Amino acid sequence: MSAIDIYPKSVGSLSDPEKADFSLPFRNDWDYVHAANLGVNADGILLPAPVLETATFGLPDSYRQFFPAIQLAVAHERDVRQQLVLDRAVLTIRQWFVRKNNSQQNQDRIHEAHQDGDGRTPERFYTVADTASTQYFPSLVPHEGNRGSVKVGKHEPLVEFRPYDVIHASAQTYHRSPPMPRDGRRTFMRLSFKYNPSQHFPTIGSTMRS
Ligand SMILES: [Fe+2]
Repeated sequence: MSAIDIYPKSVGSLSDPEKADFSLPFRNDWDYVHAANLGVNADGILLPAPVLETATFGLPDSYRQFFPAIQLAVAHERDVRQQLVLDRAVLTIRQWFVRKNNSQQNQDRIHEAHQDGDGRTPERFYTVADTASTQYFPSLVPHEGNRGSVKVGKHEPLVEFRPYDVIHASAQTYHRSPPMPRDGRRTFMRLSFKYNPSQHFPTIGSTMRS
């Protein structure tokens, strides 16, 4: 792919049966994850590059409900990463009950947007949620060299997507987990790809040329 892509953007959506599966109660069997020899850190599960090439992404069966979303993200990433050398991919799953007007991420800091990456390392990420899909603020200038967090006003321009859309962005793009429209369980998935920092990775504001 040589065209300039504007970020964030949707790279696809789940089918109706895939949506139903995505929102199923998640059996987070950490013992089995350890047994499968996948690294786990505070951010999620480290997926080594070779396992990302397999049909099940090296994940245990308990993650099957997320395979279609992972597949959309991985397929797009393979398409755009070109010569970049993958350092690591991290999968994060969050599923729990959230009160109306609270955010799954920051209960009492719902008016803050943040960056996932500091810009020192080439990094892109994908998010999917079954409700209150991640909101992006591409007009906020990236905070270089540090992961930034800023308050966003009511009228800050933002980009929204439909639930179950797989959304692609630079890790430097400000975003937030928005307030829930109602009480309910929220299922959220993030898959981030971090590349070797020595690789060429041009950025223009919060957009990237692929
Ligand atoms: Fe984030």
